[in-house]
Amino acid sequence: MPRRELRCLRQRTGTTLAYGESVSDFSPAAGLAPWQRTAAGAGLLAADGSIAPTIFAEMSALAMRTGAINLGQGFPDEDGPAEVLEAARQAIADGVNQYPPGPGMPVLREAIAAHQRRWYGIELDAASEVLVTAGATEALAATLLAFVDTGDEVVTFEPYYDAYAAIIARAGGVHRTVPLHWTREPRAGEPGAGSSAGWRPDHDELRAAVTDRTRVILVNSPHNPTGAVLDTETLALIVELADRHDALIVTDEVYEHLVFGAAHTPIATLPGARERTISISSGGKTFSTTGWKVGWITAPAPLVTAVLAVKQYLTYVNGAPFQPAIATGLGLPDAFFTDAAATLAAKRDLLAAGLETAGFALSLPRAGYFVIADAAPLGFADGAELCRALPGLAGVVGVPVTAFVHPDRQGDYASLVRFAFCKRHEVLEEASARLARLSAG
Ligand SMILES: Cc1ncc(COP(=O)(O)O)c(C=O)c1O
Repeated sequence: MPRRELRCLRQRTGTTLAYGESVSDFSPAAGLAPWQRTAAGAGLLAADGSIAPTIFAEMSALAMRTGAINLGQGFPDEDGPAEVLEAARQAIADGVNQYPPGPGMPVLREAIAAHQRRWYGIELDAASEVLVTAGATEALAATLLAFVDTGDEVVTFEPYYDAYAAIIARAGGVHRTVPLHWTREPRAGEPGAGSSAGWRPDHDELRAAVTDRTRVILVNSPHNPTGAVLDTETLALIVELADRHDALIVTDEVYEHLVFGAAHTPIATLPGARERTISISSGGKTFSTTGWKVGWITAPAPLVTAVLAVKQYLTYVNGAPFQPAIATGLGLPDAFFTDAAATLAAKRDLLAAGLETAGFALSLPRAGYFVIADAAPLGFADGAELCRALPGLAGVVGVPVTAFVHPDRQGDYASLVRFAFCKRHEVLEEASARLARLSAG
């Protein structure tokens, strides 16, 4: 339990610290209404006060309008396991259609606790250390609203899942980011071939970002949009810094079962982490049920109580018949989970090959739904512009990585585009064939 929670009284140091050059912070301008702050946090508030749609809404609408293949938003185009779908139908037929208990149905809380024990050796009291939420999104919102006060800093890596910035801004927090640096994969035969490539934070930059003003270190591993999996040294450094500065760790692990190599390591399993960590996950990605919005947090009981105090006045509860269905999913044999990751890895490879043939430079993701492709080798310096033109050029939709960074950072990511590969083989094959037009043209 963080010392601050025990004291129930926090003191700010007010010290001015030097930050590494790459570390940046962002809080929307003073004087904005709370809803404007939320939109501004996500970079959606225009100078004239209008609010732009999210890039996902814009690109999905573009795909609908043009008939382009939508590799923008991350949702699978195939149903998840039949047992899970059937369990939801059965629950509806059995009359599980009214408000479930506030913290979630016991059957699901027990299944979440059993899942944490089975995969990670984490022992939880299902009654007090597990809370069911309306997706990981509500878990994130309720957690940040529960703990982040005006002026508190929240540290995340950058690029980041866009909801983080919006929620931090709504809570009145300051969003401090640490860049993930992309080390390019050398081509076969080039010097350095076979060395470890991918997206990684610089540890000194991470150290510089976390201070006594940090209320929360918000970790997302496996990571959206880069597909990075943080290594154990980085996770251990986060725990060390959280302890030194008495910060909470909030960890978003929605891609925990979609890892293409070594098994996922929850940060809560590291020495010294558990007492100050709120772990968040959801059934959406694992069971291809993103529309069901069944998520959860697991944490020490006092932290769960604090989040519940907020959560119960956000949605109160959700998805009664889907809760036992996700419980069924969590109880599926190991083979389901390993097969799901292997199937997705094959899809990653298929789209990656298509993108490389088309002329993009790639960072091969180690997990998740997405691959980041650099359009610069194709002569496109502006990924957002390319994404708007891509339906016309190649009949495919992606999203620019600039949607996942703060406005002052967009230049660093300008030519990068995120494509989702959680789609059927034939769709990815067709998308690859269409993208090949870019290099042909
Ligand atoms: C990193 C990350 N966190 C949270 C979410 C949202 O999860 P949910 O649909 O369960 O709210 C997503 C969805 O794309 C995500 O990528």
